[in-house]
Amino acid sequence: MKILVVYYSKYGHVMKMAQAAAEGINSVKDCEAVLRRAEEFEDEVKRIESDEFARPVWEQQKDIQVCTLDDLRNADGIMLGTPTRYGNMIAQMKRLLDSTAELWMEGALEGKPAGLFTSTATTHGGQETTLLASMIPLFHLGMIIAGVPYSTPGMLHTEGRGGTPYGATTLAGQQNELNPAREDLEIASALGRRIADLAVKIRG
Ligand SMILES: Cc1cc2nc3c(=O)[nH]c(=O)nc-3n(C[C@H](O)[C@H](O)[C@H](O)COP(=O)(O)O)c2cc1C
Repeated sequence: MKILVVYYSKYGHVMKMAQAAAEGINSVKDCEAVLRRAEEFEDEVKRIESDEFARPVWEQQKDIQVCTLDDLRNADGIMLGTPTRYGNMIAQMKRLLDSTAELWMEGALEGKPAGLFTSTATTHGGQETTLLASMIPLFHLGMIIAGVPYSTPGMLHTEGRGGTPYGATTLAGQQNELNPAREDLEIASALGRRIADLAVKIRG
């Protein structure tokens, strides 16, 4: 089973969550994570080149291929990771989803399991709204969306760390100075395993 992990990350937080999700996927028998990034906007590349914090993260992702429609078509399950922009997904990811009309017409994504993850600067910066809003196009595409059950270790927390029932999350901090906490990465990994397990059950 090929499970696509498609993400965008400017400062590295969502990238680390994507890597954790991929580890979870790869731990499931007969499943392989395919890591792809949403294509960057040309004008944003120019801004990144003059941003001392974003530039090294950009360099680190140079070998990650840009997600294509065939990557989506060939996947048995999909995980989608996006930083939060004003409580919603990032435009680069929306552009990818808005380019899927032919997949929608073919029904190419129908019945495939999907899971989501995000990052915000602040605790109440909109993790749940981003996750829920990002689900809407996936419902239109006929995907079967799975969240994180409360039996997952780390889910019963009262701090700003750990995931949500709608997907895995992390906090970047106001200056993007934080790192994903261990429990954030573990929940991202657990969600990766869950999507891979579901793909085996649904499509195996
Ligand atoms: C235009 C813009 C809008 C943002 N909106 C939010 C927001 O609504 N809530 C929030 O907590 N953080 C917001 N942020 C901060 C980002 O979510 C944060 O930088 C991101 O999660 C870091 O992920 P990354 O390291 O993978 O790029 C925003 C940042 C930018 C540039």
